[in-house]
Amino acid sequence: FGKKITFKPSVKSTQEIAHQLAREGAAEGTIVLADEQTGGRGRLGRAWQSPSGTGIWMSLIMRPNIPLQKAPQLTLLIAVAVSKAIEKVTGIEAAIKWPNDLLINGKKVSGILTELQAEADSIHSVIVGIGMNVNQERKHFSEEIIDIATSLAIEGNQPYKRAAIIGEVLSEIEKLYHSYLEDGFKVIKLLWEARAFSLGKRITARSISGSITGYAQGITDEGVLLLEDDNGVIHSIYSADIEFPS
Ligand code: BTN
Repeated sequence: FGKKITFKPSVKSTQEIAHQLAREGAAEGTIVLADEQTGGRGRLGRAWQSPSGTGIWMSLIMRPNIPLQKAPQLTLLIAVAVSKAIEKVTGIEAAIKWPNDLLINGKKVSGILTELQAEADSIHSVIVGIGMNVNQERKHFSEEIIDIATSLAIEGNQPYKRAAIIGEVLSEIEKLYHSYLEDGFKVIKLLWEARAFSLGKRITARSISGSITGYAQGITDEGVLLLEDDNGVIHSIYSADIEFPS
């Protein structure tokens, strides 16, 4: 991963460029990295603030030979890799909130956006967008997110070299991906669960089809979240926003 890196000072979104490169047949492991995004995208149609000089905004092309329904596993794999890389470089533990938010002291430091190019049942490519808040100070965050967002520098009380973190993230992804292709999802699942923030907690999963409140029971072998509601019914959650009801 990272043998071919396209770096751009300023782009709308690295996802768009990576999608284009993937359509043109770019190799697995190709990376698009930008210093600033003017139209960074988050999950569920949200915007992702990506100011210059502060964070890591990158998209990665993967071409795994797996069935479509296993794609969520990759998101969890990347979340584990980013969490391990953060810990290695900063010594700070980042917990994973399903499916792929990384939290430090309950605030979001990194988010992952997995998008697929697929035909029928087979995956053509997976475009994984990774956003990491590295050197932002509080003043960099807008009013809207100041209470829910943080950066490594805020949490570690010092600035970090983005290149060192990128290197570590890519090397962790590569290691986990090898293990995944050879031995399947088991190891990743264990690593994910060990870092999970939402498991065992009472949560509300909100999506376009409505919201369900209950206890997060775990994830399936496909990476789907299992949520037990107050009637004891277990729901499989494929995509949702998780909130913690007070
Ligand atoms: C989320 O938590 O909602 C996911 C955020 C993903 C942000 C990254 S930054 C690099 C890539 N390009 C984008 O436009 N989005 C992703």
